[in-house]
Amino acid sequence: MNRTIIRKLLSETDPPAQVIVAGWVRTVRTSKGGFSFIMLHDGSCLSGIQIVADEKLPNYDSEIVHLTSGCSIVVAGTLVASSGKGQNVEVQAESVRVLGTAAVDTYPIQQKRHTFEFLRTQAHLRTRTNTFGAVARVRNRICSAIHEFFQQRNFLYVHTPIITTSDCEGAGEMFGVSTIDANNPPRDDDGNVDFSQDFFGRRTYLTVSGQLEVEPYACSMGDVYTFGPTFRAENSNTPRHLAEFWMVEPEMAFCDLEGDADLAEQFVKHIFRTVLSDCREDMDFFNKWVDKTAIETLAGIVDSDFERITYTDAIGLLQKADRKWEYAPQWGSDTQTEHERFLTEETFVKPVIITDYPAGIKPFYMRMNDPDDQGRLTVAAMDVLVPKIGEIIGGAQREDRLDVLTDRMKKQGMNLDDYCWYADLRRYGTVPHAGFGLGLERTVQFATGMSNIRDVIPYPRTPRNAEF
Ligand code: 4AD
Ligand code: MG
Repeated sequence: MNRTIIRKLLSETDPPAQVIVAGWVRTVRTSKGGFSFIMLHDGSCLSGIQIVADEKLPNYDSEIVHLTSGCSIVVAGTLVASSGKGQNVEVQAESVRVLGTAAVDTYPIQQKRHTFEFLRTQAHLRTRTNTFGAVARVRNRICSAIHEFFQQRNFLYVHTPIITTSDCEGAGEMFGVSTIDANNPPRDDDGNVDFSQDFFGRRTYLTVSGQLEVEPYACSMGDVYTFGPTFRAENSNTPRHLAEFWMVEPEMAFCDLEGDADLAEQFVKHIFRTVLSDCREDMDFFNKWVDKTAIETLAGIVDSDFERITYTDAIGLLQKADRKWEYAPQWGSDTQTEHERFLTEETFVKPVIITDYPAGIKPFYMRMNDPDDQGRLTVAAMDVLVPKIGEIIGGAQREDRLDVLTDRMKKQGMNLDDYCWYADLRRYGTVPHAGFGLGLERTVQFATGMSNIRDVIPYPRTPRNAEF
């Protein structure tokens, strides 16, 4: 079937007169004058195209007048200027072939506003709505913008493994991967489950980050990035957490924290600039129906200089603020959502890059700074915070000194043998290097203004929920 997608029909200045379109019916209106007006969508863009079917068509009475929302059809006809409001062109049907019907009394996507909660239970059909179609298209454009950004800068795309033995973030929030029969596991002499008899002969997990495995590529190929799914078994039931999400992780050799932050800022701006220029129709939709400030916010970010502030200064600012905190800001503790929102939405009113966090709250691989004037230990970390969402990027300059790294790993009770290969990078030709991870879903959420992260990934995985 040589169909033309609706996006092409609507955007081409000189579209062909004879066309075939295929898609799903949104609405049908039958006029007394012997015509049916069918609004047809195919997912290629937000708009549908109007099909005008004349009662002279052979299946008019038997099929066309019975079409309802959700039916699938193929239409052949001529593209003509439309006299109706809201569209320039429409298709004058010469044939309407019905591929699939959709019973009105059971088809879940009715022509009314459904709640996002309800549509989550219909994840397999929710992309037939305007909102979820638009989310899917913006997500797609963001992913291609990510690859463009790195490819234009000669970064090498590296595929890191999904199954791993290492816990990058050291938070112990890993899903185990095993083929052992949970009802009847083999036991060792101490009565513990004997994972040496498991598929890989050892305990394995789903990765929380591709960083550890991408670092060797940076320390041989220069600038690299990995982009794939990551998994965290943290029991966080919030609008910003998923148990399965996608992360983009660049890693640069011969790069320090400042270079890392510079790249992060350019990267975020590139993504939002692309969305603004290439997803105009979808962004207008979000701006109208989802978040009235969506476009203005993105445009503001593209034009702003991100604020850069050390963790110590940020805590100082928060402590001085005239404000009742639920969690009092305290040097040594992680910043809370209320603190992050205060900094990004009230103090600076733009993205903020916080650097040099206390060593005690960050993973083993971050480079140790010299102690500050009060003898406090910090690491060369940076988080990029944006209004409403909070952290969208976490990164660091890596510890490139073997002795400092091993010392830190020992103090954190890590098994050095497991990370021998990681230490080798510091043993053989060590170089300063740095990188970061950007959460794809939080980025899509921010771009679209969608308030819940579960609505920007096709099939969300969250605690007690892995349907579809
Ligand atoms: O700050 P995180 O934990 O950093 C790392 O994993 C580093 N190894 C990255 C690196 O340096 N290569 O995670 C990075 C980003 C966060 O800033 C956030 O945007 C996203 O990943 N993220 C999540 N997104 C959705 N659901 C979750 N549970 C997330 N946890 C982190
Ligand atoms: Mg983080």
